[in-house]
Amino acid sequence: MGEVTRPGAVIAIDGPAGSGKSTAARRVAIALGLRYLDTGAMYRALTWWLLEQGIDLADTAAVLARIAEPRIEIGTDPRQPRIAVNGTDVAGPIRDRRVSNSVSTVAAIPEVRALLVARQREIIAATTATGTGIVAEGRDIGTVVAPDAAVKVYLTASEEVRAQRRSAELDADPAATMAAVRREQARRDERDAPQSAMAADAVDIDTSALTLDEVVDQVVAMAWSRRTVSRG
Ligand code: DC
Repeated sequence: MGEVTRPGAVIAIDGPAGSGKSTAARRVAIALGLRYLDTGAMYRALTWWLLEQGIDLADTAAVLARIAEPRIEIGTDPRQPRIAVNGTDVAGPIRDRRVSNSVSTVAAIPEVRALLVARQREIIAATTATGTGIVAEGRDIGTVVAPDAAVKVYLTASEEVRAQRRSAELDADPAATMAAVRREQARRDERDAPQSAMAADAVDIDTSALTLDEVVDQVVAMAWSRRTVSRG
């Protein structure tokens, strides 16, 4: 017995860095047999390409002159997330600190957002048109990208827990990493704030004291209770 997805089912998962939303979103998609869209990866891929071109990201005019050039391809298989720029797999490089520390500058440019939001809506529409639902993850899914999403979740976690999760992912001296991660996190939170919003109809889940399984279970239960998916 599997789950039968209702046509057009969109699950929006938003939240700050370190809230655990990427892993949770992928796991929810796998559990419900849905596709998965990591919108942050698209902002990262564009930023990676701009850096590769040697473009000064503080020069907005220079950035805007080039944003339509790279061909950003993103896969929607939650078991095999794939992101490529002009045919080059960039799944690894887009997670580098170089990109992580620059991406919010690029994501803050309104024209960049208009371009990527349009692509994200296209991907979501193309997926739901086939009768398959999708879990979309980012900062503005429930408010801007998919305001009609059937389920909207805003994941949060305490500043300390988020920093712990991030530094655990990095392979270095734990104490030094923790301090650096906290500083970078505070900077990124501040820069991402204008682009991040919790929809009025979103459910806020504080993941600080929850395991990943518990977060996934809560979102899956919401999807069932809202008849987004039904048990086949
Ligand atoms: O979730 P993430 O760390 O991969 O996001 C990377 C950057 O992109 C981060 O600065 C926030 C930004 N972002 C955004 O502005 N809107 C989205 N929908 C997703 C990410």
